[in-house]
Amino acid sequence: MPQSNFIVASADSRQQPRLIELAAAYQLQIVEQTEQDLHLLWCDNRLQLIQRSQPKQAGVFVDFIGAAATYRRKQVSIKNEIIARAVGCKNNERPTVLDATAGLGRDSLVLVSVGCNVVMLERNNAVVALLADGLSRLKQTCQDTWTRHFIGLYHGSLIDDSFDWRNTLPKVDVVYLDPMYPHKKKSAAVKKEMKAFQGFVGADEDSDKLLSVAKQVAQQRVVVKRPDYADYLNQQKPDFSLESKKHRFDVYLT
Ligand SMILES: C[S@@+](CC[C@H](N)C(=O)[O-])C[C@H]1O[C@@H](n2cnc3c(N)ncnc32)[C@H](O)[C@@H]1O
Repeated sequence: MPQSNFIVASADSRQQPRLIELAAAYQLQIVEQTEQDLHLLWCDNRLQLIQRSQPKQAGVFVDFIGAAATYRRKQVSIKNEIIARAVGCKNNERPTVLDATAGLGRDSLVLVSVGCNVVMLERNNAVVALLADGLSRLKQTCQDTWTRHFIGLYHGSLIDDSFDWRNTLPKVDVVYLDPMYPHKKKSAAVKKEMKAFQGFVGADEDSDKLLSVAKQVAQQRVVVKRPDYADYLNQQKPDFSLESKKHRFDVYLT
């Protein structure tokens, strides 16, 4: 699990309050340059993950407000989002969900858009900084009521003893897990910038350990997103699964 300890920023952007705040919150040093291929860069007033060896490739950042995210958010409904049905949305019921492997927050955005309250948890310090930056840009530019469904962002892991989840996290109905799966197939469908994210985070080889803790945290169910060809997490058969085009959502009732 690679971690990043710094953010590259040009001299004239180094005094940006949001950058200084992020760096302090996640113990990231602000530096002028680096030789490291994949690294965090403060550019265009936002935090991005970039790859030096691919200068034409777009940076990866958390986007809750751009055109693509807005389009996605407006299109979602319980009917067409299997993830929403997997976490137990129906009629007027909207569970509170802990997205315990939050990544770039894309699944969280879908859950928030259908009306779930969502708590995000992420262990990688660079990724949690990207999320914090995305949330802060969202809250600066959009005061719509749906944004209030993002009810928390935490840095840590359910399987890290130093993270006291019992006394730190709010009570949640559902724990949602989407650990990075070690890809066997070469997927042309994965965009180049997403490959950079996958290369940066690496495969979550310890993800089997998450299931038993998640079951203690969730009051109703644990939902695990898997590629359609992948084994069950920790080889444990779920109570049921829902399938989308490329994924399976394995549901464990608690
Ligand atoms: C495949 S990505 C998740 C993508 C996310 N669902 C989205 O929609 O953007 C997996 C993320 O989970 C994080 N992660 C993996 N295991 C974790 C754990 N035990 N605790 C917290 N975060 C974890 C990784 O650092 C990575 O950022």
